Amino acid sequence: MKKTALITGATSGIGKAYAVAYAAQGYQLILTGRRRELLESFAHDLSTYFKIKVTVCLVDFTNTKAFNSFISYIETALPIHVLVNNAGYGLEKSFTEDTFNIQWDMVNVHVKASIQLAHLISANLKALGLTGTIINVCSLASMIPLPTSAMYCSTKSFLVKFSESLALELKPYGIKVQALCPGFVHTDFHDKLGIAKEKCHTKGIVTWMGPEEVVKDSLKALKHNWQVICIPGIWNKAAYQVLKIVPRNLYYKAITEYDSCFSTKIK
Ligand SMILES: NC(=O)c1ccc[n+]([C@@H]2O[C@H](COP(=O)([O-])OP(=O)(O)OC[C@H]3O[C@@H](n4cnc5c(N)ncnc54)[C@H](OP(=O)(O)O)[C@@H]3O)[C@@H](O)[C@H]2O)c1
Repeated sequence: MKKTALITGATSGIGKAYAVAYAAQGYQLILTGRRRELLESFAHDLSTYFKIKVTVCLVDFTNTKAFNSFISYIETALPIHVLVNNAGYGLEKSFTEDTFNIQWDMVNVHVKASIQLAHLISANLKALGLTGTIINVCSLASMIPLPTSAMYCSTKSFLVKFSESLALELKPYGIKVQALCPGFVHTDFHDKLGIAKEKCHTKGIVTWMGPEEVVKDSLKALKHNWQVICIPGIWNKAAYQVLKIVPRNLYYKAITEYDSCFSTKIK
């Protein structure tokens, strides 16, 4: 029987790259997203090229009713051997400029959806004595507070700690958990925030990667070790090491100047 990989947010970017990588390994796929035409055409191409079954679930994770129906479907599709919790987005407005409900929706998408799927899928694998993989797509932003991204940084930070603890719980059962923490990646993420494409390129210490490179690093890390946190790209790894030793007060001052300058400069 073919193994199944569920990849959330597979319409574009990092999720799409994971879908290609797991299709190439012969997995049958369940892909989620909201942009029907793009996702259905991608699924059709994958199933024709790799001769695998690809199921599309069009679901907005902020819609409780739609998400609950999706969970009911996933219960019928178990066992799922690979879960990539990738669906995510950035917010245009800062915490106090936005409505509470819009800010809270990010908890539903980044946190609730990810942990509910992880719970369902890992408990089932454990009960059946099967091995598997759970990848939670976090962000380098989970390691650093940003003045205009309170909910983004904190929801991603939750996912890192959740991944580390779950990895310890599931290691004895052969179920690997990874917290993928990319830096800047060329995807539709920044387009959706209205950030011009020509502003999204490597400059100084700010490095941009392609989604395929990010996924390659993630899968390589999973193959070779049990390290939970995976930071793709050598410059991102170096930046993380530097950020860890910079005194907090100095960091706060620098990031406040950089973030206000970045958000106006990049638009
Ligand atoms: N790009 C970066 O620089 C970067 C850096 C670090 C981490 N990340 C993380 O990487 C993950 C993938 O993002 P990406 O960069 O590949 O961006 P992307 O190309 O915009 O893909 C995001 C995916 O998430 C789905 N999604 C967004 N909001 C959703 C919602 N409310 N309900 C259900 N699905 C939703 C999108 O679906 P539709 O498009 O069909 O609506 C899309 O398939 C995100 O978790 C993001 O936070 C990105």
